[in-house]
Parts: sequence; structure tokens; C-alpha cells
Amino acid sequence: MDVEASVREVVGRQGRDATRLLQILIALQDRLDWLPPAAITAVAAELGLPRARVEGVAGFYSLLHGTPAGRYRIRFSDNITDRMQGSEALRKRLCHLLWTECGKTSEDGLVSIGTTSCTGMGDQGPALLVNGRAVTRLDAARIERIAELVRGGVPLDDWPAEFFRVEEGIRRRGPLLGTPFEPGSALRAAIARGRTGWGEEMARSGLRGRGGAGFATATKWQACRDAPGADKVVVCNADEGEPGTFKDRVLLAHEAERVFEGMTLAAWATGARTGFVYLRGEYRFVLDALQAVLARRRAVGLLGMGILGEAGFDFDIEIHLGAGAYVCGEETALLESLEGRRGTPRIRPPFPVTHGYLGRPTVVNNVETLALATWIALEGGAAFAATGTPRSTGTKLLSVSGDCARPGVYEFPFGVTVAEVLEECGALDTLAVQVGGASGVTLAGHEFGRRIAFEDVPSAGAFMVFDGRRDPFEIAHAFVEFFAHESCGFCTPCRIGTTLLKNDLDKLARGVGGKVDLANIEWINRLLRNASHCGLGSSAPNPVEDGLAKFRPAWERRLRSLEFEPAFDLDAALGPARRMTGRSDPGAHLDREESSQ
Ligand SMILES: Cc1cc2nc3c(=O)[nH]c(=O)nc-3n(C[C@H](O)[C@H](O)[C@H](O)COP(=O)(O)O)c2cc1C
Ligand code: SF4
Repeated sequence: MDVEASVREVVGRQGRDATRLLQILIALQDRLDWLPPAAITAVAAELGLPRARVEGVAGFYSLLHGTPAGRYRIRFSDNITDRMQGSEALRKRLCHLLWTECGKTSEDGLVSIGTTSCTGMGDQGPALLVNGRAVTRLDAARIERIAELVRGGVPLDDWPAEFFRVEEGIRRRGPLLGTPFEPGSALRAAIARGRTGWGEEMARSGLRGRGGAGFATATKWQACRDAPGADKVVVCNADEGEPGTFKDRVLLAHEAERVFEGMTLAAWATGARTGFVYLRGEYRFVLDALQAVLARRRAVGLLGMGILGEAGFDFDIEIHLGAGAYVCGEETALLESLEGRRGTPRIRPPFPVTHGYLGRPTVVNNVETLALATWIALEGGAAFAATGTPRSTGTKLLSVSGDCARPGVYEFPFGVTVAEVLEECGALDTLAVQVGGASGVTLAGHEFGRRIAFEDVPSAGAFMVFDGRRDPFEIAHAFVEFFAHESCGFCTPCRIGTTLLKNDLDKLARGVGGKVDLANIEWINRLLRNASHCGLGSSAPNPVEDGLAKFRPAWERRLRSLEFEPAFDLDAALGPARRMTGRSDPGAHLDREESSQ
């Protein structure tokens, strides 16, 4: 089928709806392996959009390809924990076996190999994505086999199934993960309380959002309910792009009924009729199973018109895929993406609860927040608030990875100490823990008595462990690379600041930094923190500031001198010319300077 015919068919299947532009581009790439200019032109024509708009969206998402990509598109997860497990050597080995350079497509168009940010498999890495499908537990033997399969042109469906196996990964069950759940039971309990009574029960629970900011969920729902406007919207934020976080993956794969029921409970509280799950592209492997759960719920009256026989309780859920952009986890960027645009964060206020998806009142909640609402509906707000701390009620799922014997997902009551988590996951000789991902906090040994709670160490879920073999400078360096890569480029302080920060840390890593670079880094940090448009830019300095404050000797070891050191090494740059001309005097350029005076 030619490009235009493919476009016509895909656009038609998506209802010729411009808000579905990202979904259209993802579906087209599935067919064509990349998005050729002719496809962009045809999509623009079919949807009646300016071509620049379609091209702008296609160019925004890292899992979409605007240049020819291989029939096998391989992306190694490039989180610090993947690196610690040897992902760089494995990637180089695969490049060598397939005669391909990293970041390029092989000349025969068979394969392209590159990296991507954390794929959410920190408990079973190193990992990669091949044509969007996750391969876990990479080792030398698996890499050799993958090279053979690619060389043989074997379709992915015929690859060994165990390559694609994503283990459950639950290590500690609490009230959420440990209580069996009967679909519909939480909804029946909430309906029995009435919409207002259910809102009051949520308020009693003290539940705060588990996506990072910790906003009171009942307050958010009430604000959406009170906002003028019909057809309110509930969005489940399943973008989970924070490096080292994978607890939403576990909920989506094993507790989908709870998550969808939580969304429906939010609809009951707010009066919403429309629901979306924004599922990160890296978790596409759960898509079919999620669709099957939705179909089952529709069939038994838990979605659709008149849910559970309640007249006027109409709500349904649609799943939209992301395509590799960490910033789309930020709720307003997510809404832009959901409307078929680049994931550029909006100016707030107005907030989504009054002006969200297509300007309608919208609740955006994290997967875990929504799953917890089912527990509250069944057991009551007071029972929920009896666990945790007064300001951080209930339990928290932690995604534990890195240097420990038992990585995986742990459900702990809020208020658990870092030391208790370390003991339970079998961590020894721990040097540092990164709580909350790249944008979180780096804790040193003297802080392991601190508590995971909004009032002490907040966390969206990541808990990365680093033992005495690790270099704290390298940890911060990896996170700074992540931010520079993920900056959406919309505002100058972050677009330039994250790159300047990366350049400075690169310079220190090359061993040519001086004390002036540390002063420079502090200046850039202030710029990022104070002038960035969204939370990505303002939290980018976190790992650097923590690293400098808590592990300064590791940074100072990187300094060549206490004075200014240029990043540019003139002697090294002149090396090839000297070799070509046969001149071996290292001061050749100085002679020339002197002779021109
Ligand atoms: C750069 C950035 C990335 C974010 N990524 C996520 C994410 O992947 N998942 C999530 O639930 N919230 C994420 N958030 C927070 C959301 O903006 C929002 O606060 C959250 O989805 C609200 O849900 P909650 O109240 O249930 O926590 C992110 C925020 C920022 C600034
Ligand atoms: S702070 Fe960074 S990610 Fe946020 S809008 Fe600005 S450029 Fe984009």
C-alpha cells in the first residue's frame, strides 16, 4: 500500500479527528517504520491542518522518526541503573555485531540502534525497546541472540517469548496490593454514599496525589465538580517517565480494574462523562490487556451509559499512547499532547480543573492515586487515614532499584524511614539513595533516618540505591544529561540552562574543569530554578545541588585546578594537523602567535 493510501486508512480509522494526531502518527509509523515527508503532507491534507503543525508534532516525540529508521528500531534504556548493570557495553556489543553505529541506521535499512530515557524496567534491567516492545534482563547471551534474530529478519512475534517477559515485581504488599478486589464493589459503595457523600469520604481520607506534587485529591475533585461547564473529563496520568519509577507499570499490568474503577469513582465525584488514560509509549506492552479490561467493564455495566443502573451516571474511558517525552507527564503538557499537539506545558492559571482538555474542567490524577480511591470507597476515609502520618495518609508504592538484592515494588505506610526500606530490599554498604527520581532528592548516609512523607522526603515513587562502588558525580551527571535531553525547548532558561549545565558537567567529567566551573554551575542552577516555565526546568538543578552539598569531595576530585581551565584543548585539537605536517613541537601555535606580534 502506498503512503497516501496508508494515511487515508489510518486517518479514517481515527475518525479524521485532529485531536488524535499523535495517535495517527504512531499508527502510521507502525506501518511505514518511519514518517516520510509525504506522509506528513498527506496527514496535514487529510486533517486540514497546516503541514508545519503536523511536522512540529512528529518532531517533538522521541519515539517518532522523521528520518529513515531501521525495520528493527532498537533503543537501549539509558537510566543510571541500566548503566550500572552494564547497558553501555551491551549496546556497543550489539552495534558491533550488527555493524551499526549507535544513533544511526544501518546502510541496508535493517536496523537502527540508539538510546532512550528510562523505560520503566529498573527492577529488571538492563532493558531495551525494539519497535516499541520492551526486552528485559539483557545480558551477553541475549544480545548475541538478538543480533542473530535481527540479521535473520525474524518477525518480533517469533522472537523467544521470554525476551519480552515483564515480571510482576511486587516485593511487599500492603492494603492496596494485598487486598483482593472485586470489580464494581468500590463503585457500589460510592454510589450508595451519593456524589456529595463520596466527596466527603475522600476528604476524610486525606489522600494526596501520588504523582509528585501531593495535592489533596478531594479538593481537586471538588474544584472540578464546582467548575462551570458540561462534559467534564477525568485523565489518568500513566506517563511515568521519572527515571527509576515503575510502580504505575505494576498497577497497570496487575491492578487495571482498580485503576479504571478509580477513574470511574473520580467521574462519580466530579460528574465527568469522558475519561482518558495517557499511557507512556514505553508501556505499550500492556495496551491490549488494558483494552480487554475496558471491554469487560463495558460488558458488565461498569462503563458506558447508566453505570450500575444509576440514571445519568455516564462515563467511558479511552486510552491514548504517548511517544517518548518525559515532559508529557506534567499535567498541562499531557493535555496538550492529548489534544494532538506538542507536549508544551501551559501557563497556569487557569488550572486544568477549570480549563483542561479542550478547555473543559478536567481532573488529572496519577495511576496510584486513582487505585487508592477504590480502597477508600470500600474501607472508608478514616481507615485510610489511620495509616501513614497525619500529613501523609495511607501507603506509598516505592519502585526500588539499583544496588540491592531485591529490587521491585514495595508498598509501605508513609513515614517509613529510608533505612527501613534499605534493610528490606537487601541493600548493603549504601552510599546514597536517590528518592523521587532525577527531579527528587539525593540522600547521603547521615540522612537515612529520614522518612518518606510529603513533610520530609516526598517521592513520586522512585527509590534508587547506590553503594560504595558508585561515584556520586556520575550519578548527578547522568541526571543532568537526562534533563538536557528531555527539556522541551519552549522556554529559554531551561532550553539553554540544561545544556549549559550538561556542558559544564561534561567538562568536569573530562577532567578539565576548574573551580570557576563550580561557580558557573551554581549560577546556572539559580537561573533554572527561578526562571523556568515548568517543573522540569526548576527541578533540573536538584541532583547537582545535592551532589555538591553532600558529596563535594567526589566533585572536587574531578577538578584539574582551582583556577580557570578552558574546556577547549588547543594542543589536542592541533594534533592531527601536526601529524599531517610532520611537526611535533607542542608549542607550534605559540611560535606563530609570537611571530605575528
Ligand atoms: C516534568 C514533570 C513530569 C511529571 N511526570 C508525571 C508522571 O509521569 N506521572 C504523574 O502522575 N505525574 C507527573 N507529574 C505531575 C503532574 O503534573 C500532576 O501533578 C499529577 O499527574 C497530578 O496527579 P496526582 O494529584 O494524582 O498526583 C509530572 C510533573 C512534572 C513537572
Ligand atoms: S522548563 Fe523546560 S520543559 Fe518546562 S517548558 Fe521550559 S523548556 Fe519546556
